[in-house]
Amino acid sequence: MIDDLWYKNAVIYCLDVKTYVDGNGDGIGDFNGLTRRLDYLAGLGVTCIWLQPFYPSPNKDNGYDVSDYYGVHPDAGTFGEYVEFMNHARQLGLRVIVDLVVNHTSDQHAWFRDACKDAESSSYRDWYVWSKKRPRDYKSGMVFPGVQKTTWSLDKQSREYYFHRFYEFQPDLDTCHPEVRREILRIMGFWLQLGVSGFRMDAVPFLVERKGVRKTHRKDYELLHEMRDFLQWRQGDAVLLAEANVPPDESMDYFGEQGDRLQLMLNFPVNQRLFYALASGDIKPLVEALHATYRRPQAAQWVNFLRSHDELDLGRLTEAQRQRVFQEFGKNKTDQLYNRGIRRRLAAMLDNDRRKIEFAMSLLFTLPGTPMLQYGDEIGIGDDLSLPERMAARTPMQWSADKHGGFTTAAKPVRPVVSDPVFGYQRVNVEAQRRDPDSLLNWTERAIRMRKECPEISWGDWRILPTKAAEVLVMRYIWQDHALVIVHNFSDKPRAIELKADTVGDRMMVNLLKQDDSRADRRGRHHIELDAYNYRWFRVGGIGHTVPR
Ligand code: NOJ
Ligand code: CA
Repeated sequence: MIDDLWYKNAVIYCLDVKTYVDGNGDGIGDFNGLTRRLDYLAGLGVTCIWLQPFYPSPNKDNGYDVSDYYGVHPDAGTFGEYVEFMNHARQLGLRVIVDLVVNHTSDQHAWFRDACKDAESSSYRDWYVWSKKRPRDYKSGMVFPGVQKTTWSLDKQSREYYFHRFYEFQPDLDTCHPEVRREILRIMGFWLQLGVSGFRMDAVPFLVERKGVRKTHRKDYELLHEMRDFLQWRQGDAVLLAEANVPPDESMDYFGEQGDRLQLMLNFPVNQRLFYALASGDIKPLVEALHATYRRPQAAQWVNFLRSHDELDLGRLTEAQRQRVFQEFGKNKTDQLYNRGIRRRLAAMLDNDRRKIEFAMSLLFTLPGTPMLQYGDEIGIGDDLSLPERMAARTPMQWSADKHGGFTTAAKPVRPVVSDPVFGYQRVNVEAQRRDPDSLLNWTERAIRMRKECPEISWGDWRILPTKAAEVLVMRYIWQDHALVIVHNFSDKPRAIELKADTVGDRMMVNLLKQDDSRADRRGRHHIELDAYNYRWFRVGGIGHTVPR
């Protein structure tokens, strides 16, 4: 089973081909470059790469505006180079999942162009969502408030309005249309045939919505079941990972009560409360979010993350909680975005404080689920707030102290490489960190290696052990009679806790990351002293008490 449900104990690494490494010197990252860096990724220990959209696209939303689902963007390389990349990844045992962006297309997609040109006769007309008059609610439901002005825009050719949940150049597909549904499956089948292990599904809550004027916006979750069915017929071990920022009580609609929809969901509820806990030391909302996302079908899994390529969305916190996070991690108006989030990188939000960065990463690896790492966070790269919107956190990977951080030899990179005195490539780069045994990169590599040996976290059951220190989160995982106790002190002050040997399950707890074990005292209590932002990964019993494979 461990090997069959590979995604449960995976470590996912998200990257964008165009900002990872440029192989041909034109300034834009590509598959050739990425292929050469696969050894780096295998060495880091990640097991699955999530590729952001690399399809033909005008790139007005960083590729989330697809103009051809059956192609590779010429800047990223040829199909041949894509296949070479996939082959090399497979040789190294790395799986690849790709973005499936089918809630909308680019307005430059041939389907939409045809639909506009021939309103009367185009067979693609009904693939999109139209209204003769401008709907009354045209100013509501924008995903990018402050930047996006409307959800209905006029098509000048046909003189009708089309619906777009996102920017006006991303017309929504009518996903209730049978032919659109068939086409979605065809796209999936295409990439499965080309070796991917599944899809990160974009904007799922909108994908399953009934769209259009006077439509109730009722959700049609059956689509998810259809997609899952098809996926599994074509390739038994492939997965669907949902981007669905929804309240926890809706998650079962996405997993399916019988586990018959999506296997994986990004854990947005935990993500927001995690940052609130980091900002405030108050772990109660985080604990609530963990409990609220406890229930899931047996084969389903949450995917945890810290930062992604989007803004840190704090939209579901209370106003006071959100303000607290802003105050700590994004005080300035330029740090914030869409009235709800922060557009900075992890290391920058955490003041480049190694204690806090390790602490956050330790949480990422030990919260219940599968961890997802954003490229660059393993070396602590920063952001560039002079870039618009979410681009701030999408700067190129920093490989060396060479010009443009070794990302490209071209005079002008696709996006500037961070070069400020703190986070700039001159100081923060892979080459330097590889040669420094104490670097964040080497810490991350060791943490990943250990995490993979802790399937209790991804397979097991967990509960939170109460202590007298309000800011300390203690989680006990158990699977097949093997247990872990994971401790995090969210306070900026030292804290001490006591745990009963009976509760944790043994008088001996071995620290998996350092030689500093805990032996219960004569009264059968473990005393654990924690400095500010300290973490411990304990294996209960002895170092050899690992789950037999
Ligand atoms: C979610 C993606 O993560 C984001 O980057 C994109 O802008 C929207 N979906 C629209 O595709
Ligand atoms: Ca290139």
